[in-house]
Amino acid sequence: MRGMTSGSLLSLRDVSKAYPGVQALAGVDLDIDASEVHALLGENGAGKSTLMKIIAGSVKPDRGELLLDGTPLPAGSPARARRHGIGAVYQELSLISTMSVGENVLLGQWQRSRRMVDLRLTEEAAVPYLERIGLDVSAATPVRELGVAERQLVEIAKALSFDVRVLLLDEPTSALSEVESRRLFDVIRDLVDDGVAVIYVSHRLPEILEVADQITVLRDGERVGQISAAEASEHQLASMMIGRSVTEQPVSTDDGSPERDTSVVLRARQFGRPPRLKPLDLTLRKGEIAAVFGLVGAGRSRLARTLFGIEPASAGELELFGRRVELRSPADAIAAGIGYVGEDRSAGLISAMTVGENITLASMPRTGRGPLLGLDDEKALAEQYIKELNIRTPSVHTRVGALSGGNQQKVLLARWLCTGARLLLLDDPVRGVDVGAKEEVFRLVRELATAGVTILYITSEIREARTLGDRILVMADGSIVDELSPDASDDRVMTAAGGVDV
Ligand SMILES: Nc1ncnc2c1ncn2[C@@H]1O[C@H](COP(=O)(O)OP(=O)(O)OP(=O)(O)O)[C@@H](O)[C@H]1O
Ligand SMILES: [Mg+2]
Repeated sequence: MRGMTSGSLLSLRDVSKAYPGVQALAGVDLDIDASEVHALLGENGAGKSTLMKIIAGSVKPDRGELLLDGTPLPAGSPARARRHGIGAVYQELSLISTMSVGENVLLGQWQRSRRMVDLRLTEEAAVPYLERIGLDVSAATPVRELGVAERQLVEIAKALSFDVRVLLLDEPTSALSEVESRRLFDVIRDLVDDGVAVIYVSHRLPEILEVADQITVLRDGERVGQISAAEASEHQLASMMIGRSVTEQPVSTDDGSPERDTSVVLRARQFGRPPRLKPLDLTLRKGEIAAVFGLVGAGRSRLARTLFGIEPASAGELELFGRRVELRSPADAIAAGIGYVGEDRSAGLISAMTVGENITLASMPRTGRGPLLGLDDEKALAEQYIKELNIRTPSVHTRVGALSGGNQQKVLLARWLCTGARLLLLDDPVRGVDVGAKEEVFRLVRELATAGVTILYITSEIREARTLGDRILVMADGSIVDELSPDASDDRVMTAAGGVDV
């Protein structure tokens, strides 16, 4: 018999969890109904992912209990949570990169013929889930060939392959553009119609207002309130998250002095790595912010990786600061004055090293004094950025792997903000960064540009491209298909990104 005490599908009672130096969750209560999308909102480090992991059984709370249909659900067992229909898509993606898309989607449920695992059958069986989420890659593609956004979609398809009653989505759209996000929202609506409860974490406030029924706000591990999405506004949510009223800062389109030096910093001619990155022409000037917008798979990240020498160009030529260069490796690019924040933060951070070390990693030559590293300088530099970007960490000596996702992202960004690079390639640098810190990052990026640094800013949000970019380069299908001014309409930008010839 099911418990009759509570009408909720899932309830949390007085859940707490501490880590060394932080109380990640402090006495949190939460009730989630069937057919409800319940959003969790809070600043980086507020405790959202910890809460999700406790529900999914992968983190054991220090105190408190979980009730499913009013019946206690023993904590700390992912397998048991799974058997009870709790499915999760985590913030840090967990696919096995050497396996194919299909194998990953049906991990643990591989098809067999004659008692042997049948790869082809498994991949065929995965196709409907890929179609449902709108991912247009073959199920036989190895996951390592996919970008972060595509991986995110595979993770979601994987979660859909089980019969879930409670679906946990931790920043599922952080690498997606509006088009892919819309598709996910449609899927969520179908699930909700079937009685599934969805717990949803995102830093995109408009998206939360669109998709959620109920919103719970966490601050420093505590539940500060719950509000129905129909009654909430972005402004109010931001204030609840931060704990004080926020004043919306108008976007300063600072035109700089008329005397600004706008010499050419980068000139690429028929530059690319066909077939994925088609030969393109690109000119970047000193102190400009060129926003690059495109849908998933458009080639934005590839452009950055090629410019940084990770996937060296195989066609065309490149001039940097007036000199012909060939960038065969990231070392070449760094030596030429280029900095890069990649879309995959797990590849950029060294999780066993401290926050401080990760920040100053690329600035060693500057802080070093003779044969010895200037440890004090290094610490001071790291602390300055921890403060400026409000990185939530117990100390500069904490292992970076212990930070929340958004705070790790800030560490990665801080590394390149302090290197003194003259050209920065930023691939979705505010992915997973909370609203307040996002503004701070935008301010720093503008400051750098004003100081003469050139910035190629890749984003999947039109709003961001518009806010920051002096111009918007639209990519589709491995090419730059259009160049628009920041005041172009959303429709115009979208049409271009859809790959429609204009
Ligand atoms: N494995 C861990 N070891 C040590 N500390 C941890 C660990 N996981 C989380 N924390 C700490 O617990 C706090 C809450 O982290 P959590 O990941 O839940 O935040 P979050 O709300 O998901 O943030 P974000 O928006 O950045 O993803 C943070 O201060 C984080 O540093
Ligand atoms: Mg998180």
